[in-house]
Amino acid sequence: MTQDDLPAVAAIMARNALWQRYGVTLASAAQRLQRGLENGATIAVAEVEGQIAGFVWYVVEGAFQRSGYIMLFGVAPDAHGQGIGRALLSHAEAALFAVSPSIILLVSDFNREAQRFYQRHGYTQVGALPDYVRPGVSELIYFKSRPV
Ligand SMILES: CC(C)(COP(=O)(O)OP(=O)(O)OC[C@H]1O[C@@H](n2cnc3c(N)ncnc32)[C@H](O)[C@@H]1OP(=O)(O)O)[C@@H](O)C(=O)NCCC(=O)NCCS
Repeated sequence: MTQDDLPAVAAIMARNALWQRYGVTLASAAQRLQRGLENGATIAVAEVEGQIAGFVWYVVEGAFQRSGYIMLFGVAPDAHGQGIGRALLSHAEAALFAVSPSIILLVSDFNREAQRFYQRHGYTQVGALPDYVRPGVSELIYFKSRPV
């Protein structure tokens, strides 16, 4: 993600029902992404016909300084179901598995679409963090080992 891509990525977050439940706005999403860019975050984007259609923000050894961590991941709501999520996840996995034997990420308990998506891609739930980010919402811990 370059500086030029940032408004489109912030718009994907702000338009998505998932982040709306966490109180994310266009301004707060842009601020978080900006801070990430300034701190050297790794944020990859998917482009379809010149438009930003999705993004993934991942951190090498970002979980327990051992596992790769997928921190933020989303596809524009009108572009779901076209394989963009799969492409972004494959990109992040290639980078993370090159360094770590496993990947960890969090999924909201109500986010069934993402849970199904991750399960299809080989992730299993290994735990849960109740009220971790929002009261009344558990963050489910998903885990995947590097395929042999
Ligand atoms: C989870 C998310 C990233 C998936 O992105 P996506 O681009 O829709 O993902 P894909 O298109 O690769 O796969 C989605 C489904 O479409 C189907 N699909 C994939 N490619 C397809 C194609 N070419 N044609 C038709 N269907 C297709 C797959 O079967 C898949 O089903 P599954 O979810 O049961 O596995 C997306 O739903 C999203 O942005 N959700 C909101 C944000 C979010 O939840 N982020 C994760 C937080 S942890």
